[in-house]
Amino acid sequence: MSKEQNTTGNITPPNKDLETLKNNFPNCFEKNGEFNFEKFKKQLSKNEINFSKESYGMDWLGKSYARLLATDETTTLLKADEKFNQKDENKNSENLLIKGDNLEVLKHLSNAYYEKIKMIYIDPPYNTGSDGFVYADDRKFTVEELQELSGVSEERAKRILDFTQSKSNSHSAWLTFMYPRLYIAEQLLKEDGVIFVSIDDNEVAQLKILLDDVFGEDNFQGHIHWRRRHNQPNDKTKMIGLVAEHILVYSKNKEAYKQSGVGKLELTGSFSNPDSDPKGDWASKPWKTGSDQGGSIYQITTPTGKILDEEWMGEEKTFKEHLEDGRIYFPDKGNGAPRKKYYRFERENEGQSATNWWNHDKFGHNQEANNHMTSLFGGVKNIFSNPKPIKLIRNLIYLANLNNRDTVLDFFAGSGTTGDAIMLLNAEDNGNRKFILAQLPELIDPKSNKPAYEFVKNELKIETPTIFEITKERLIRASKKIQEENIDKPTKSKKIKCEGCGEDGEHCHSCKGEHTLKTEASKKKDLSNQDLGFKVFETMPIWEDYNFESEELDAKQMQLFDESKLTKEDIKALLVTWKTYDGILLTETLQERDLNGYTAHYSNEKLYLTDKGFKTKNLKQLLEKIDSDKDFNPNTIIAFGYHFESKNLREISENIKSYANKKSIDIDFITRY
Ligand SMILES: C[S@@+](CC[C@H](N)C(=O)[O-])C[C@H]1O[C@@H](n2cnc3c(N)ncnc32)[C@H](O)[C@@H]1O
Repeated sequence: MSKEQNTTGNITPPNKDLETLKNNFPNCFEKNGEFNFEKFKKQLSKNEINFSKESYGMDWLGKSYARLLATDETTTLLKADEKFNQKDENKNSENLLIKGDNLEVLKHLSNAYYEKIKMIYIDPPYNTGSDGFVYADDRKFTVEELQELSGVSEERAKRILDFTQSKSNSHSAWLTFMYPRLYIAEQLLKEDGVIFVSIDDNEVAQLKILLDDVFGEDNFQGHIHWRRRHNQPNDKTKMIGLVAEHILVYSKNKEAYKQSGVGKLELTGSFSNPDSDPKGDWASKPWKTGSDQGGSIYQITTPTGKILDEEWMGEEKTFKEHLEDGRIYFPDKGNGAPRKKYYRFERENEGQSATNWWNHDKFGHNQEANNHMTSLFGGVKNIFSNPKPIKLIRNLIYLANLNNRDTVLDFFAGSGTTGDAIMLLNAEDNGNRKFILAQLPELIDPKSNKPAYEFVKNELKIETPTIFEITKERLIRASKKIQEENIDKPTKSKKIKCEGCGEDGEHCHSCKGEHTLKTEASKKKDLSNQDLGFKVFETMPIWEDYNFESEELDAKQMQLFDESKLTKEDIKALLVTWKTYDGILLTETLQERDLNGYTAHYSNEKLYLTDKGFKTKNLKQLLEKIDSDKDFNPNTIIAFGYHFESKNLREISENIKSYANKKSIDIDFITRY
């Protein structure tokens, strides 16, 4: 008989820790597969590893429950939005937007995207008390079940269930929410991958220790302080006004990250070549420095013979060398303050190393992000609270040092800034970065968020407005904008002029830096090879009467489940869920294979038989096709048990086993329920 799997309601992330233990300490496992911790301790003590009782770590009410959540089964299937995905702009896209609770989404991704993600950025609820975070969990455990599953005392189990079911926003509740998500996120990162987590003062202390726990303290790369407000807060009741927030940065494996190259920040300054300098594009840097900068003080005589009567700092010798080298530039026809030219190639070679202080002028601020959203949404203000600025995200992308075709995951997508930033960056530098975003269909409150509610209801004609609709619409609009504006970085032929005084150059003397810069429209870039679309998937509850909690597929369960209620759409969802479970990317399509009148689905050497009506003639065709079709090499055949009679399954299993196919493929036959 074939192998049986109850996979439909039993998708769990791979437990690599257990695998490692099994491989290295097989003698610490009992016959029934249970791990014997006492034996393990003894063995390690032999190697002089000290198990002292007092150690440093993080504990909170719900930690064992959080561990359970990280590894327990999914309660959903994944389905595709076929209509949307078949649109011209999306059909070949490798970007993804997934609707659903991100814990479910991450579990679905955990096999196919295992160690495939180069960068994760998340901006989770900050638990400020007013941001609406409450612990919501529809898993219903009894005290006894929880005791058994997570090994806690009755009293502790009661207290855990109390907070998981009482809409708590305690630190414990927040940590219980974050832990399982971070646990799976860590598995998705490539060895040289990095994760960035935004947070504010409320949970930064908890988050740091939690991340140390999940990623290892050794992988802590830094704590970025980002000034998110450009203006000065003026709340007289506050001792310390809030203008900054935090981004904690961890690598998956610091050595691998270092080896693949430490990311550098985006170059500041607009490079151009207005004077056809043979050394190429350049930008200017003011020569003048403040009197506290050190160096010697000297007078400067401009090309028009004017002696500048300010104090000029720096080495005079360097100034003269640069002057001779043509690197000193006087923007206002020779009269004004000198500037030093610095060349693009030099800066690119040298790169700009990041520090942990990110100011709002270079990395963007809240207001800038709000303005961007307002302009994307045709003037509708406050459509999303606290989106992140594009500049912030694109600099994080630079830091992560993505290679071509690398993927960025953001599983608290919000307004979709991460997707927007990636499409923009790709359009500018012909890159090919991919994104995967996940967003909960969180209901929009018509009272507290009227503009968003009305926009989704009236413009998008969606009966029950959710934040997911904002995410999706933002990505559609961002893509359109990129195509319309065809943004290009300054090129050699491009000049930069100050709108205030009309001077060339990045900074101009007359305006003393208070100018706005206007870039001349550059010629349109060919964006036809750019991936400016995305595919949409969503989680859906497993069919109502499907007994996915049953451990064994007994006759009773078979009877309980009425498969005749399954629709075509349900079967399609089953296929999407199974293929992802089997390691096939969501963006890879299953091909239909005709087996003499029976349609099977095939990809990556997996063949799925989900329809009813599989007969001997179809089996015959299947075996023949393996021999004759060079592009058909299934090493696993998976049948949906409810659509096959048991004699049918036996026939397939026996024939597959006994038939010596010409390609000598060793085929596994699995029946799934
Ligand atoms: C602070 S916002 C992210 C903002 C985003 N960085 C931006 O620039 O727009 C957090 C988002 O996470 C979403 N969210 C909260 N819990 C979630 C969950 N369990 N699964 C998926 N999304 C969730 C919220 O709906 C909210 O939109």
